[in-house]
Amino acid sequence: KFGEVKLAPPDPILGMSVAFRNDPSPDKVDMGVGAYRTNEAKPLIFQAVREAERRILDDPTINKEYLPIEGLDSFNRLARDLILGSDCPATAEGRVVTLQTLSGTGSLRIGAECCKAFLNPPCAYVSRPTWGNHNTIFEKAGMQVKSYAYWKESTRGLDLEGMLADLAEAPAGSVVILHACAHNPTGVDPSPAQWDQIADFLATKDVTLYFDSAYQGFATGDLDNDAYAIRSFIRRGFQCFVSQSFAKNTGLYGERIGALHIVTANRETSEKVLSQAKIIVRASYSNPPKHGALIVSRILSDPALKESWINELKDVSKRIIDMRHKLVEELTALAVPGDWSHVITQIGMFSFTGLTPAQCENMINKWHCYMLKNGRISMTGINTSNVAYVARAIKDSVEN
Ligand code: LMR
Repeated sequence: KFGEVKLAPPDPILGMSVAFRNDPSPDKVDMGVGAYRTNEAKPLIFQAVREAERRILDDPTINKEYLPIEGLDSFNRLARDLILGSDCPATAEGRVVTLQTLSGTGSLRIGAECCKAFLNPPCAYVSRPTWGNHNTIFEKAGMQVKSYAYWKESTRGLDLEGMLADLAEAPAGSVVILHACAHNPTGVDPSPAQWDQIADFLATKDVTLYFDSAYQGFATGDLDNDAYAIRSFIRRGFQCFVSQSFAKNTGLYGERIGALHIVTANRETSEKVLSQAKIIVRASYSNPPKHGALIVSRILSDPALKESWINELKDVSKRIIDMRHKLVEELTALAVPGDWSHVITQIGMFSFTGLTPAQCENMINKWHCYMLKNGRISMTGINTSNVAYVARAIKDSVEN
């Protein structure tokens, strides 16, 4: 038994966190996983989260009973309105199916299973590059995964032409995965005008859209602006899947809290889709965990807590932007070869540095600066104490 099982490599992202934890170096810098760190290199618990938890503990009506298969009703409504907007026409028409999920990854997996079961797409298209887990999730759900152009090395920007040319070749019925905002790993998003152009083009194609929204609040610093793409596609009449994560924007990484929204043609179809999605969930994990849903639901339903959360989220985004500027200042002061302006123009949690795999190895092995081998660094691992050190590591990696 088990003799044929081959050793798998560590996960390219979560494996980095393990390597970082095991590294005894006092100089080590954690720029691997996309998880926020304070300027003191510590995880952050939002004030609103602490307050919501206090209230939950004191609430005698809260118990530890199972949630329904589709999750906590108040959370589902509030999460849906946060991402689709409270004036979403599809919501008003009863066309949106919502299920609470195990954060973004759990949402993507259940969404991919639903997509396969209900629509049986010939293939799933992901951006090139994309978050590595997209490939695995859609493959494990039984789909062939292909990619469309996205990143243009020469401009360190969006390859819109290449993207549309690749999607023009997509077989009828394909599912197209789009990052709603703060593209992971490139930090490059289409502008609203470019989103409109993508929508005009996709309207001519027989494809299903699948939005992954893991960074609402991190791209423009405004929750509504960051939902522009999703909301405008739905207003144009697109039916779609939306995977929504609360890991980053509420800092509830380990609570595994997110949602899956499926926008269908009408109320009747939605009822059927929900009934089938529930069977998939029941056979996967039965029903979702409660604590994260209670926290988010409290925050989003209480104006003062919501305001506190939004303000702190703005501070978090601002610290990331400050570090982008600081890092480029240090790189410039050290006269590191190359143009580093993309570190400032890229948005969200990451910078797609352009470092080669060998340079990344040097960053990790020699300098204990943990990052992804594709050149992605999480800007949140950088702080005022280590930014000069990271710049020296980059200089050494680029020059040697
Ligand atoms: C990341 O890209 O670092 C995050 O989305 C965390 C993860 O689950 O990979």
